[in-house]
Amino acid sequence: MSSQEDIRRMSMTEANQPKKDWRFILIAIVAGLGGLLFGYDTGVVAGVLLFVNQVFHFDASMKGLFVAIALAAAAVGAAFAGALADAFGRRAVLIVAAVLFSAGAILSSVAGTIPILFLGRVMVGAAIGVSSMITPLYLSEITAAHWRGAIVTINQFYITVGIFVSYLVDYMLSGTPDGWRWMLGLGSVPGLILLGGMMVLPESPRWLAGRNFIEKATAGLRFLRGRQDVSEELGDLHRDIVEDSRRAAPWSLLLTRKVRKPLIIGVGLAVFQQITGINVVIYFAPTIFRDAGLSSASGSILATVGIGAVNVIMTGVAMRLLDTAGRRKMLLLGLYGMLISLVFIGTGFLIQLHGPLTYIIVGMVAIFVAFFAIGLGPIFWLMISEIFPLAIRGRAMSIATVANWVSNMVISGIFLDLLLIIGRGPTFMFYAAMTVLAILFTLWIVPETKGKTLEQIEDSL
Ligand code: BGC
Repeated sequence: MSSQEDIRRMSMTEANQPKKDWRFILIAIVAGLGGLLFGYDTGVVAGVLLFVNQVFHFDASMKGLFVAIALAAAAVGAAFAGALADAFGRRAVLIVAAVLFSAGAILSSVAGTIPILFLGRVMVGAAIGVSSMITPLYLSEITAAHWRGAIVTINQFYITVGIFVSYLVDYMLSGTPDGWRWMLGLGSVPGLILLGGMMVLPESPRWLAGRNFIEKATAGLRFLRGRQDVSEELGDLHRDIVEDSRRAAPWSLLLTRKVRKPLIIGVGLAVFQQITGINVVIYFAPTIFRDAGLSSASGSILATVGIGAVNVIMTGVAMRLLDTAGRRKMLLLGLYGMLISLVFIGTGFLIQLHGPLTYIIVGMVAIFVAFFAIGLGPIFWLMISEIFPLAIRGRAMSIATVANWVSNMVISGIFLDLLLIIGRGPTFMFYAAMTVLAILFTLWIVPETKGKTLEQIEDSL
C-alpha cells in the first residue's frame, strides 16, 4: 500500500501546475463527499431514532442494534477496503461504495419491515467503512503535494459538516409525517454525486503504474495535471513503486518492537476516541436532551443542530491550530475539557436538574463536543497517518481504523441499555473515568509530531 510521504516526494515537481483548475474543484468535491457521507450517514440516526421506533416498536436494545449494525458493517468494510483497493483499484472500490451508499439509503428509506431497514443500514455502513479508508488514500495518490498535508484534517472537517447537515435535515423534517424516511433517503443524493464524480475522475496513476498499466497511468496523470508532459512525474512514480516493493514488509513486522509502540498509540487513540463517549452524543443527542427535560422532539433536535454547529466550528479552529500549538498539547487540552464537562453532565443527571437548569446539561454537552473537536477528533486521524513506519503504514492504519469502528459499535450499541441498567449519571461518569485513562495514556506514550518529517517521527519512536 502506498503512503502520503511517498506521494509527497513523488509530486515535488508539480509546484508549477495551474492552481485554479476545474480538476482541483472536482477533486475537492469528491474529497468532501467521502467525509460528508461518513458524517451524514452516521449523524442522521440521531433524528431517525426518535421516530423509527414508533413505526417498528423498538425497545432500547433494538434501538442500540439499529445504530450499531451500520457501525459493525463499517468495521468490516474498513477491514477489507485496503485489500480490495489493492486488488481492483481505488476507483472501482469507491464506485461500489457510492452505489452502496445510494442504494442502502433508498432501501432503508422505503423499508416496510425491520430486516429491510437493517439491510439498508448494513449497506450504508459498509460503504462508510470503505470510504473512511479509501477516500483519503485515493486523494493522497491523485492530489499534488501542496494539497496533501491538508487532506487528513479536511476529511475530518467534512465529517463534521456531514453530521451538521444531517442534524439540519432531521430538524427540518421532524414535523413531517414519515420524515424519518426522507432523513435516511436523502443520503442517496451525495452518494449519487460521488458516483458521478468517480465516473469522471481517473484511476489512481500510482495504482495503475504499480500494475504496469503505464499507458493508462500516463493518460490519468495528463488528465489530473492538465498538461501533456508528465514524464518526470511518471519516472518519480516508478522509482517510488520500486522502492516501496523493496521495502514491503511482511505482516509479522507488526509484532516487532519497532512497530509495537506506534501500534499501541494508534489503537489506543482509536479506542479512547470512542470510549470517552463522543458518539453517544453525536447519535443520541436528541434522546439525551429529551431525557434531560427538553419537552418536544423538535426542540431536542434543534439543540442537537447547535451541537453540530459547535463541532464544525471547533474543528475549523483545530485545523488552524494543530501545526502551531502542537498535537500533544491540544490533545491534552481537549481531554481536560472533555473530562470537566463529562463530570458536570454526570452530576447534572445525578442531582436531576430540572426546569431552566436543564440547559446547563445542554451547554455542557456543547462544551464536551467543542473539546473533542479540538483534540481527540482530528488528532486521532492525523496521528495514525504520521506515526507508522512507511513499510507497514497502510496495514497499521487499517488496524487502527477497524479498532475505531469496533469500539464505536460497542459503545453506541450498549449506550441505551447502560442508561436503563446503571442510569444516566453513572453512565456519563463512566465516560469521565475513561477520559482520565485517556489522559494518563497520552501523558505516558503519545509523542509530539508537530513540525517533524515522517522519517524523524519514525526514528523518535
Ligand atoms: C470520529 C467519529 C465521530 C466524529 C465526530 C470523528 O473523528 O471518528 O466517530 O462521529 O469525529 O465529529
